[in-house]
Amino acid sequence: MARPHQQRRLMAADAREIGDRALSHCPVSHDQGSWTVWGNEEARRVAEDPETYSSRVSAHLSVPNGMDGELHGQFREVVDRYLSDAVILPLYPSFERIAETAYASLGDEFDGNEFGRIVAVRCQSAWLGWDPSYEEELLAWITANRDATRSGDRRRTAAVAADFTAIIRRILIDHRLHRRDDPTSSLMADTVTISGFERALTEEEIVSILRNWTSGDLGSIASAIGVVAHFLATHQSIADELRDQIDNPRALDLALDEMLRIDDPFVSNRRITTRSASLGGCEIPARSRVTIHWTSANRDPRAFGYPDGYDPCGHQSRNLVYGAGPHACPGRTLSTLELRGALVAMLRGGDLALTGACERERIPVGGWAKVPVRRTPRPVSL
Ligand code: HEM
Repeated sequence: MARPHQQRRLMAADAREIGDRALSHCPVSHDQGSWTVWGNEEARRVAEDPETYSSRVSAHLSVPNGMDGELHGQFREVVDRYLSDAVILPLYPSFERIAETAYASLGDEFDGNEFGRIVAVRCQSAWLGWDPSYEEELLAWITANRDATRSGDRRRTAAVAADFTAIIRRILIDHRLHRRDDPTSSLMADTVTISGFERALTEEEIVSILRNWTSGDLGSIASAIGVVAHFLATHQSIADELRDQIDNPRALDLALDEMLRIDDPFVSNRRITTRSASLGGCEIPARSRVTIHWTSANRDPRAFGYPDGYDPCGHQSRNLVYGAGPHACPGRTLSTLELRGALVAMLRGGDLALTGACERERIPVGGWAKVPVRRTPRPVSL
């Protein structure tokens, strides 16, 4: 049995670079009582074994992310009601319009992430029935959250999280006063069935669900659009192929999954072991903290060969951008449709080219901090 590898002290601050370097040594590493899972197969094993790798990593209520077993399943049923394909697919035309309008409002030179932030806030607000008057506040919050996360200062991240909760509580008051036919109002009147007993959701549970649907995910979608903008600007021939397939949603969605596999901005999630476990040649004791590093698992050469090689169909079955197992992302369809709207707007808007140096994000945030691009409209063929 191989001995646990000590995690090397890595100078890089880019999640993708750190993952690539770590993977060249081992699929699982250990540092000061914490374990990081870098490999693709190992990440899937952790995600698919919730009995050994518990999601109850914090004392704070986190619905359904921080729950296990039956309780998780019961709250997950609530969440899935709002994110099923039947509910979400009809929203696509409005997402496409939002992305097109946002794209048209930008100058010829813009930042890919800035476009991403506008699309993320407008699509999520449209889905949840949030008034457009919250837009400025939510945009400012995404930036503040990213800066706080990058700083690694826990007091700052806690303060930013509290600001978000305050925004959500105001939105709830707003919905209580002016009841509407939207997911936020429905959630406020919804119930959960625990051990056969149906009860109303508490205010804390509603706030937690809304926070988990929006706070991190606004940032993830914004960063994902930055990744897509960078990819299009640096892969002209693939952009041309996708333009030819613009009416083929399946091809566009596969392409998006593959672009995010190559550069996954949703870096990691945590677990805690309930018992000792063998993984990637390591023995992990019970009660150990374990981090699944999705960015790295999505670039594992053992699963994908050359990690930057673009092969949407060939790589699909091992793609872990939206996770695996019982906690796999319930927002996958919603996220994919928002991203597809943004991709279609960029493809229709002409060719993208980088105008200056791009800047990588720093851990624990992934993707790009800056993607300066210029668009050149294509001549209209008569
Ligand atoms: C690019 C965008 C997104 C990416 C890459 C992403 C990725 C992920 C991943 C990897 C997980 C698994 C977490 C784990 O195993 O601990 C997850 C879970 C989750 N995601 Fe997403 N996500 C995205 C967007 C969204 C959106 C738009 C929503 C909802 C509106 C959403 C809601 C959730 C929730 C509630 C969970 C927890 C599920 C559970 O614990 O059962 N995500 N996401």
